[in-house]
Amino acid sequence: MSGVEAFDAVDVIRAKRDGEAVPEDALRWMIDAYTREYVSDAQMAAFAMAVLLNGMERSEIRVMTDAMIASGERMSFAGLGKTTVDKHSTGGVGDKITLPLAPLVASFGVAVPQLSGRGLGHTGGTLDKLESIPGWRAALSNEELTAQLASVGAVICAAGSGLAPADKRLYALRDVTGTVEAIPLIASSIMSKKIAEGTAALVLDVKFGSGAFMRDVDRARELARTMVALGTDSGVATTALLTDMNTPLGFAIGNANEVRESVEVLAGGGPADVVELTLALAREMLALAGLPDADVEGALRDGRAMDTWRAMIRAQDGDPDAALPVARETHTVTASRSGVVSRLEALPFGIAAWRLGAGRARAQDPVVHAAGIDLHVKPGDTVAAGQPLFTLSADDGARFDRALSAVDGAWEISDEAPAASPLVLERITA
Ligand code: URA
Repeated sequence: MSGVEAFDAVDVIRAKRDGEAVPEDALRWMIDAYTREYVSDAQMAAFAMAVLLNGMERSEIRVMTDAMIASGERMSFAGLGKTTVDKHSTGGVGDKITLPLAPLVASFGVAVPQLSGRGLGHTGGTLDKLESIPGWRAALSNEELTAQLASVGAVICAAGSGLAPADKRLYALRDVTGTVEAIPLIASSIMSKKIAEGTAALVLDVKFGSGAFMRDVDRARELARTMVALGTDSGVATTALLTDMNTPLGFAIGNANEVRESVEVLAGGGPADVVELTLALAREMLALAGLPDADVEGALRDGRAMDTWRAMIRAQDGDPDAALPVARETHTVTASRSGVVSRLEALPFGIAAWRLGAGRARAQDPVVHAAGIDLHVKPGDTVAAGQPLFTLSADDGARFDRALSAVDGAWEISDEAPAASPLVLERITA
């Protein structure tokens, strides 16, 4: 390289600021130069804000995604001899679906590489939940990951730092510059990591509602369509489900309690909504893997999915039979009147669980695995005055007040049942 840069960041920022499409080579350069730290955080923040305000053409989003993939390593499972299919959720409260889903799908002989993250803020992280299991190890080398995919079929582990490093920097920058919500930036961020991971097929669970990243269903649909197009254009068979996140998924919100609930699903029981979404996503994943008629309910009923779960936990040094941590203190809230639970909002319950210690405020903080909330009722349930509504758990009872203030006004008991709304609203394909 001559040392002379091919473009100028200010020209790229100005073009986007003035509502113009950025030429492909200039956009590729911008991402590469940011990864090399030639383009500064200040310049990239200005560019991200211009994208948030003026949007991007589909072709620009594709180039941006490609450039972020090119910033790091690209994995391949081509030598595995099994088809690979992954799932990504945009995140919600009580969303533990990956835990029963990965072993369920893998029990049909399909490889499921779930490269996951830790939680920040009110949405929990899959790795934090699994780390409630004594001995379980999130960090695997690429060789261990491939060997486990070949033997067990399902792997849930930490995403290595080599995948899309440009996104790592850009996501941290967006977090502190009010530019997280831009659909082109979310889509390219998520899809660059998924495409770099090397999965052959991908199912996206794009959530809308109070506990979701996108409150508005139309924006969630636009995000889903953008990501499905990006995956498909890159040769990854991609579909999406638009799913409701106005109320928490299941009864458990936290870490150890979410593992317990997931094991109930694998044992053929569990809450109806968690089972419904697990089955819907499993059917999508298996259809993309060429098994559209797989008997997914049967695999939960007859213990095949549970066997794969146990093998998956053991392969990462966890003990599937070990007791999970239990909190030192609990506090139960009861119904002040009789009636029907007409509303129970996801976001405040997610924030309350976080304040109890289930989530972290800073990336370096530890989580309290036993902390969280167990709901005893869901919207539509009839309750009598004095009946338990939910129980808070923490290692320190001093945390209860702030958690209770988070859920103040977040549920309602009335005379009329709420209108029924589907959990899976729509399926989006290329
Ligand atoms: N998750 C990601 O990985 N990136 C985003 O931009 C949003 C959610």
